[in-house]
Order: sequence, then C-alpha cells, then structure tokens
Amino acid sequence: MPPFEELRVFTGSAHPDLAKAICDYLGIPLGQSHVFKFANDNTFVQFQENIRQRDVFLVQPFSYPVNDNIMEFLIMIDAAKRASAGRITAVIPYYAYARTDKKDQPRVPITARLIADLLTTAGAERVLTVDLHAGQIQGFFNIPVDELTALPLLARYVGQKELLNPVVVAVDFGAAKRARGLAARIGAPLAIMEKRRVGNADQTETLNVIGEVESKIAVIVDDEIDTGGSLISTVTALEERGVTEMYVCCTHAVFSNKAAERLTATNLLREVIITDTLPVSDGKRHPKVTVLSVAPLLGEAIHRIHGGLSIGAMFE
Ligand code: R5P
Repeated sequence: MPPFEELRVFTGSAHPDLAKAICDYLGIPLGQSHVFKFANDNTFVQFQENIRQRDVFLVQPFSYPVNDNIMEFLIMIDAAKRASAGRITAVIPYYAYARTDKKDQPRVPITARLIADLLTTAGAERVLTVDLHAGQIQGFFNIPVDELTALPLLARYVGQKELLNPVVVAVDFGAAKRARGLAARIGAPLAIMEKRRVGNADQTETLNVIGEVESKIAVIVDDEIDTGGSLISTVTALEERGVTEMYVCCTHAVFSNKAAERLTATNLLREVIITDTLPVSDGKRHPKVTVLSVAPLLGEAIHRIHGGLSIGAMFE
C-alpha cells in the first residue's frame, strides 16, 4: 500500500506537453488547475480539484521566461501546501541557474542555492530533476532530491546507429564524467576538450583536445546547449583535427540566440540529439535536430516515488 493517498500530477505554464505525456505514461488524467496572471502582472494559481492528503507532483522546467516560471512554480507550491496536500514533489526537468553554483568571483551570488531555499520555503518536500549541471546541487537542498539521467536514453539512440570508429568527446572537464558514461555504453574511447570561459559574456574558447580524434566519428556530449558557443568551438576544433563527422548528445536544449540555426549550419555535424526537458519550440525544430522524450523516465520515477520503490533500480 503506497504511503500516500492518490497520486496527482499538475503542470505550470512552462511545459504542459511534457506534463501531459507524463500523465499518459502513468495512465492518469492531468490534474485540473488555473494558473494565470492578473492585468497587474501578479500570478494566481487555484487547484480545481481536492488535493487534501494527495501525493502531489508539480511539473515545471525553469525555461524561458525563467524568472516568471520560477515565481509561478513557487506560487503553485504555496497553493498546494495551503490546500493540505499530503506531500508535494517539485518536478523540475531543467533546473536553471545551475551554473551559478559557487562563488568563483568576488561579490557574486550562489543563485542555485537561493532557488533551492525558495523551493523549500514555499513547501516543496521532495525534488525530482534530470541531469543537474553539477550533482553537488543536490546538497543545496535539505529535502530528498532524486536526480535522473537521460544518458541511457541518449546512449541507446546513438548506439543503434552502430557508428564506425566513434569517439565520445566531452565539451569540457565538467562533461567528462557524463561523456565517459556514454562512451562505456556504446563501447567507444573518450576525448576531452579543454575549454575556457571568457568573462561573463557567454563566450568560450577551446584550447586543446585531449585524446585521439583524427579520422573518427565524434559523439559530442554536454549537459546543456545554451547559446551553442561551447559546441561551436568544439566542432571547429574537431574539424581542424580531422574528425570525419559529428553527432551531438545533450539533455537540455535551451537554445538561446538562434543556437539551433548556428549549430546545424556546420556541414560535418550530422545530428543534434536533445530531449524534451524544455519545451520544444519552433526554433528547435530542424531536420538535423532529434528530440527524445524524458516523459517515460519521469513517469516511471513518479510511479516509483509514489509507491516507495527504488529509483536506482531504474538505472541498473
Ligand atoms: C557549461 O559548463 C555547460 O556544461 C555547457 O557547456 C554550457 O551551458 C553551454 O552553454 P553555451 O551553449 O552557451 O556555450
């Protein structure tokens, strides 16, 4: 017998398609709620059904407009708490501000921690998320955090291509662990780019490639594509070093500043494989972009959290 009463899933306005797909996986209807803004830009939320003692999962990736979506989510959590939900799980497929996770310059914030505090203060009792930029962000919370990974999903897709002579390339040291995981899954060697961020202006510079890449097919791995700058400098460096073709695997497709257009313009880059942790807007739809859904992954995790079953077993 699950420890909480009926499972209910609700969506904020960031990514209702994903929440519906999660509900389809679970075989339940999406919960009814009204989420809207008054003329004065104040957000309002009302659950349209009884959630007293229910096991409530609220779904909201922190997509554009990021600050609005975060605020709306906090208000949803508050409404659920005041409606006497039995337990509130914040399902955050993409956790924005994750790159602001340390004080690495004087007089800067640690916004990833601030958001964690806000979520907990609002009333979140658990967090379910996917591929945090840095796993240590889990420790910013004093409530349980289940971090899923889309790596097996991406690896399965790329593995089916049976690429000849592949090498998995991490765009920077931070991506190396993830890339090693994918390399192991598809039986390929690993190479790592030495990347340097230039100031705070979304600019990167690739300095070196560590590992053998010449005459190989590169499968480039990163957790997120934002402006595409890191990838473009990776792609250019790999081109110069004689890679024959390239694929990109990435969980979170933020795609600011027409990133998709800029990326797919590169001839040797055959395909950009992303997931739907963020809404798949028109700017992301391109013949070279493949979108894999994380809905079954999140749906299965929700089923397991509700039933008190192991999440780790999903990845064994
Ligand atoms: C940074 O450390 C991340 O892993 C990504 O490489 C970064 O977020 C990508 O950003 P952009 O596409 O703007 O280079």
